[in-house]
Amino acid sequence: MNDRFLKDLKSKDGAVNLNLSQGTIPGHPRTERYLSDLYGAFRDAQSYELALTLGNPLVYAVTPIEPASGDGQMHYGLGVLHPGKIGDEFYLTKGHLHARRSAAEVYVGLRGTGQMLLEDESSGESRMVALQENSVVYVPSHTAHRTVNTGAEPLVYLGIYPSNAGHDYAAIAAKNFRMVIVERAGVVVLEPR
Ligand code: F6R
Ligand code: ZN
Repeated sequence: MNDRFLKDLKSKDGAVNLNLSQGTIPGHPRTERYLSDLYGAFRDAQSYELALTLGNPLVYAVTPIEPASGDGQMHYGLGVLHPGKIGDEFYLTKGHLHARRSAAEVYVGLRGTGQMLLEDESSGESRMVALQENSVVYVPSHTAHRTVNTGAEPLVYLGIYPSNAGHDYAAIAAKNFRMVIVERAGVVVLEPR
């Protein structure tokens, strides 16, 4: 009997139930990221510092589910990214590369409206891909990824990835993403940082 099967037997129906209105998985702890955790992420440092003097809101939270680890196993996380802006830039996640660069990821949009900012590590080529309810975004290997909420309600999504993917935040902290996603005359656009 493997670990997963044992865990399934212990839970009521073997399924993990998502609460999409809260962006939570009841009974599972989540990691919270506040505005103060996003130092250096926004292009407009002045607006960021000003916003922090007014408060330190919760920007996003992730609830990870790690049923089993090792070769061939999968982990996933439910993300909830709140709506908001710093200057003309939308609320965003820190973003990362996977520590194991070959690991890809599948994002499934469940609620809200947003974009994924994808940046190829070697070429630096960037693109944004819509992430919203019922859309699926494939994050290729060797690709830095950041989630951006461009809408007025929470953006809720699942990220599904190999159990050994890991997170490399240091590479992003060192040089950040080359592009930012901002609003220009009511339109969501990708611009150089
Ligand atoms: C996991 C993954 C997502 C993110 C989540 C929060 O590989 O991509 O579950 O972890 O969107 O973003 P970060 O991790 O950049 O704070
Ligand atoms: Zn990832």
